[in-house]
Amino acid sequence: MKDVSVGICGLGTVGGGTFNVLTRNAKIIAGRAGCNIRIGRVASRTPREDIDMGGIPFSTDIFDVINDPDIDVVVELIGGYEAARELVLAAIKNGKHVVTANKALIAVHGNEIFEAAEKANVIVAYEAGVAGGIPVIKSVREGMAANRIDWIAGIINGTGNYILTEMRAGREFAEVLKEAQDLGYAEADPTFDVEGIDAAHKLTILASAGFGVPLQFERAYTEGISQITPYDIAHAELLGYRIKHLGIARRREDGIELRVHPTLVPRSHLIAQVDGVLNAVLVDGDAVGQTMYYGPGAGDEATASAVIADIVDVARTVSSGSSQRVPYLGFDPSALEDLGV
Ligand code: HSE
Repeated sequence: MKDVSVGICGLGTVGGGTFNVLTRNAKIIAGRAGCNIRIGRVASRTPREDIDMGGIPFSTDIFDVINDPDIDVVVELIGGYEAARELVLAAIKNGKHVVTANKALIAVHGNEIFEAAEKANVIVAYEAGVAGGIPVIKSVREGMAANRIDWIAGIINGTGNYILTEMRAGREFAEVLKEAQDLGYAEADPTFDVEGIDAAHKLTILASAGFGVPLQFERAYTEGISQITPYDIAHAELLGYRIKHLGIARRREDGIELRVHPTLVPRSHLIAQVDGVLNAVLVDGDAVGQTMYYGPGAGDEATASAVIADIVDVARTVSSGSSQRVPYLGFDPSALEDLGV
């Protein structure tokens, strides 16, 4: 069996989870990939004493990973915008495939990154950036490839959903946010969670995959949950509704509408039943009708599950020598016309 060598950049919540699952399930993963996926190098600003690195080379400079000729796939898990952009573009320049969980990076710099990847003939995969462990990008882009998608809507920020769920039980906003941070659900800057920015990043990516349009984060209407009070939640319940923070992308005559905001959802609707850190995404396709994807939207190993699914996809390509690259614009010329592109 061939070896494919992976370099992990970042050993925080998702990096640690990815290291642990790749190590623990190495045989299962090799069976699925048809090759051995070996962790060739790990880099992180802060070492993790709680993880047994088993002799794998470790450094505090992430550029050691992308400059290592032995590494086939760079796994970017450092987060943030600029440093991650620099790292990913440099990795692509060095001919490395890239797997990332960084939705902020893809939503804001994705068009530039995908263009560079096309030129370098490498893959950039980002399943873990949207809805944590739920394979929703693959479902939308590949599972629904036959469909004209008219709308996508869902709960795509686990921290926000966790806070709204716990507030319904009478707990304080600040206390629950602190708990979500301690559990590793929240972003490094939790404003991203509570002001809807993280959900807008994810919606931007979902819409690009679903409608085959370029990433347009700047066009998203973005409103978070920080203004929601226990009074709002109680009154919505009295009227038969539940307040959920939704991301909604809809095909309109003049383009694609993108919006994230708190929404009154009838309590009987499936989306209203999705509580805690769970996410759910509804997708409407003209052939299949409505489909719904549901599962853990954040957390170390849940997100690692999606990171590793992408690593397996890339490793199959690397080990077989054939190109399984998926053009990120998903072949929907009519959506591009709508946008006047
Ligand atoms: N902070 C994010 C969330 C992490 O709560 O959904 C997963 O993307």
